[in-house]
Amino acid sequence: MAIHKVGVVGAGLMGAGIAQVSAQAGFPTVVREVSAPLLDKGVGAIFKFMQAGVDKGKVAPLDLDRVRENLRGTTELRDLAGCDLVIEAVPEKLDLKRALWGELDGVCQPEAIFASNTSSLSITEMSTFVKRPARFIGLHFFNPVPLMKLVEVVRTVRTEPAALQAAQAWCLAIGKTAVNCGDSTGFVVNRLLVPYMIDAVRLYEQGVASRDDIDNAMRLGCGYPMGPLFLADYVGLDTTASICDIMFDEFKEPRFAAPPLLKRMVLAGLHGRKSGRGFYDWSTQPPS
Ligand code: 3HC
Repeated sequence: MAIHKVGVVGAGLMGAGIAQVSAQAGFPTVVREVSAPLLDKGVGAIFKFMQAGVDKGKVAPLDLDRVRENLRGTTELRDLAGCDLVIEAVPEKLDLKRALWGELDGVCQPEAIFASNTSSLSITEMSTFVKRPARFIGLHFFNPVPLMKLVEVVRTVRTEPAALQAAQAWCLAIGKTAVNCGDSTGFVVNRLLVPYMIDAVRLYEQGVASRDDIDNAMRLGCGYPMGPLFLADYVGLDTTASICDIMFDEFKEPRFAAPPLLKRMVLAGLHGRKSGRGFYDWSTQPPS
């Protein structure tokens, strides 16, 4: 089971990054968005990021050419026929994913591997939406996708070894390190990272330390590249709160519950970097 051609559904932050690294590694890659403006935005972000990399001397101009050559955008799911691996990176709504996978199941060859980039929904549940549960896995990437080296490769009780091996080989080919894990909510990274970020929100909420002191403590005391409140903004406060809800629902442990302040910031539309305001003001450079 070899992967030659890749499909990515969704050209948001994660989908665009996944499509970029796939095309950059030489795989013909089709990225699909629901509308032409959203597709243009996603593909535009890829080339903007790559051009910035070229300007910084971090990306070879040849890599940019390779992406131009290998990347194709579409608004039609049927253009994903012929892909050996299809990765879904659409909003975290199970009904949306159910409809999407049902349609893709009819479009793609039965041998194709289906993978979801979900951060917290059940891979096992999604595998029941298709007639190929043995070839349904999780491939969980990290933000920013082109810079973060990890992919969590998630198996269910029904995943066949050949599908896992093919996905692991593809991760290696795109320059990522794969870690394997079972389909447990939050997998490895979010199971550890999200409670840490929301504990930082609780410290802030309780007035134990200021925003900057909490973030500086973890950056300078532990060598983390970003402090937890900055990182929560970076990931998205809405995304963080939604992962909390799913983990709390699964494990029923208070440590996974979204703190009241986080919930209220989300309700108020303060979603972090994506909305321009969260714990930080992202309209300034650097965020203040
Ligand atoms: N193209 C190529 N390379 C680029 C680039 C570009 N456009 N822009 C920057 N780079 C390179 C830089 O040259 C630099 O390389 P070097 O280390 O060899 O010098 C490296 O990338 C880092 O870039 P910067 O120096 O500009 O920026 P920082 O040093 O501030 O690093 C960061 C940025 C990599 C994002 C770092 O802050 C970091 O690792 N933060 C933590 C991010 C994180 O935890 N992500 C996971 C979130 S959780 C998640 O995604 C899961 C989800 O389910 C919630």
